[in-house]
Amino acid sequence: MMQMMLLNRRHFLNLSGFGVISFLFDPFKISFAQARKEEKMAYTAKDFGRLLGMEGFSETLLKNHFTLYQGYVTNTNKLNDTLGQMAKEGKVGIPEFAELKRRFGWEFNGMRLHEYYFENLGGKGGPVKTGNLYKKISQDFGSYESWEKEFKAVGAMRGIGWAVLYQDPLTKGLLNVWINEHDTGHPAGCTPILILDVFEHAFMIDYGLKRADYIEAFFKNIDWKGAEGRLK
Ligand SMILES: [Fe+2]
Repeated sequence: MMQMMLLNRRHFLNLSGFGVISFLFDPFKISFAQARKEEKMAYTAKDFGRLLGMEGFSETLLKNHFTLYQGYVTNTNKLNDTLGQMAKEGKVGIPEFAELKRRFGWEFNGMRLHEYYFENLGGKGGPVKTGNLYKKISQDFGSYESWEKEFKAVGAMRGIGWAVLYQDPLTKGLLNVWINEHDTGHPAGCTPILILDVFEHAFMIDYGLKRADYIEAFFKNIDWKGAEGRLK
């Protein structure tokens, strides 16, 4: 519809003899470009239905988790829209803008971390010992077993959040990191390689308080090839 209106407008300008310069400075064109830019910012929830049937994860738990993830996508889009509208109206120096802006990282990371998490699930058979990730982990942590022990301990820490194996792009070194909730503790610029969700919703339906049993189930289903693909 907008495109048709734009074409009609262009046609009119050409016919009326205003020429190219008028078109370049046409506010209608600028607002159309802006609308397209905003349209590009909308995120779409990914479908992780392929994970249903995964050993150690009930359908109820996974479906609840997918719904929760979709909520983060919806809220990220809502925040983008609302903040964009407030900026357009010049409502930026007010507490409402500041508080929504503060919330953005929480919703965005809630969306993106779930995508990394679901994407690194659905594998079978453990890490390939000849693979680059296995070799890199063994090199950086002394042995694969030492890394696994530490990563599981990070995942078992009290609190809600994420255990993340990160790679520092400057040193290429690997780090096991605890992320509080979704947004606190990310090492700037590092690449997430393996993500483990340890919010209670990720395991309580199936495991109650037995988080360690959930972490064992997680390890049985890691898509090591997918995780290795994130390595630089
Ligand atoms: Fe989650």
